[in-house]
Amino acid sequence: MALSESSWGFPLTAHKSIPNANPHDRQGFAHFMLKEIYEQPEVVRRCLAAYLKPDWASVQDSTAPSSLFNLPLPEQIFTTVAEIQIVACGTSRHAGLVAQYWLEQLVGIPTRVRSASEFVSAPFPLIANTLTIAVTQSGETADTLAAVAVAKKRSQSEASSQSWLIGITNQSESSLAKAVDYTLPTLAGAEIGVAATKTFLSQLVVLFCLALEFALRRRALSVQQVMPLIDALRSLPDQIEILLKQQHEAIQTTSLTFAEVSGCIVLGRGINHAIALEGALKLKETTYIHAEGYAGGEFMHGPIALLDVTVPVIVIAPEGTVYDSMLANAQKAKSNGAPLIGITNAATQDDRVVFDYALIVPAIDELLSPFLTVIPLQLLAYSIALQRGLDVDRPRNITKTLVT
Ligand code: G6P
Repeated sequence: MALSESSWGFPLTAHKSIPNANPHDRQGFAHFMLKEIYEQPEVVRRCLAAYLKPDWASVQDSTAPSSLFNLPLPEQIFTTVAEIQIVACGTSRHAGLVAQYWLEQLVGIPTRVRSASEFVSAPFPLIANTLTIAVTQSGETADTLAAVAVAKKRSQSEASSQSWLIGITNQSESSLAKAVDYTLPTLAGAEIGVAATKTFLSQLVVLFCLALEFALRRRALSVQQVMPLIDALRSLPDQIEILLKQQHEAIQTTSLTFAEVSGCIVLGRGINHAIALEGALKLKETTYIHAEGYAGGEFMHGPIALLDVTVPVIVIAPEGTVYDSMLANAQKAKSNGAPLIGITNAATQDDRVVFDYALIVPAIDELLSPFLTVIPLQLLAYSIALQRGLDVDRPRNITKTLVT
């Protein structure tokens, strides 16, 4: 079937990022979801301009705890916090799971993430000097607000220890912003499409800046170790533009294999386990395909029984610590007959041949790979939904709190 670019919803110049777009104008895109995916380079630029200090590059003293980021938080948070708990729902919870990896593996702070609704009935044991971070695009999700209320009440009952409450939200005037001690806005602009895309990426930027600031203040990382990570962060907008420009055709072609599927599995390990969950959520929300995300290792313990030719497997396999084990997952899935889609930045063609479809993301430090690996999943969900003739911007049964 020959399809023109515009029949897939892409305007011909779509690979260019969209500066300061009016959120209510689709600007030539067929859907808000697609426009918002393409806004991501600009959203990351905007967040970095706000959160990175203008003189960050001149800070060279590795012996002093340095502040490279504009984070309006008291010094005491960075020095005193013993544990972090993150409460959120849906996509925002997945951003919290990525942040958990950064905070634990980079900084060494014990960090727990719980669905806000579960936290209300089963909160974590109360630990002295806990920082609670609520993540919510809208700042109005009832479960997240209820979890914040529970966290507040519990901290008041424990007068002998300190606690702090930070809200990360796209709505600075929201109920969440009023309920917390400190708000870190995500600055993504209004997101009209119900499936969260650009707000997820902006949550990641804010959470990564926060994790790096913790790492510096606690001397878990030196300035010299943080500088290359900031350089990588700053290269993201260009890399996302390249990804969008080079991969949308491959993603459209890949989406054709989802015409007759009975389900879909998304696999990731380490920091990309959360992206597997997010990719599966995007597929569920927009295409109504039963998709599940698993940690690559855990997948072998039962869920592998689901595989057959009608269940495509998407393997997130960036180069780095988990690459070989993800490739082993891929080979196992293939031997069970599953159509195989790889999201990878593996350099060699040899590695890529294991995949029936290889969606290539630009090379980046594994720590920052979620910023890129999530984008083919967003676009794939969009393209499959479009192909199925579904209302991409307003999926059935889902409500989104939109404050404009
Ligand atoms: C709803 C949507 C999800 C969204 C979640 C959290 O359940 O279906 O897509 O991620 O709310 O929304 P929030 O505004 O709190 O980030």
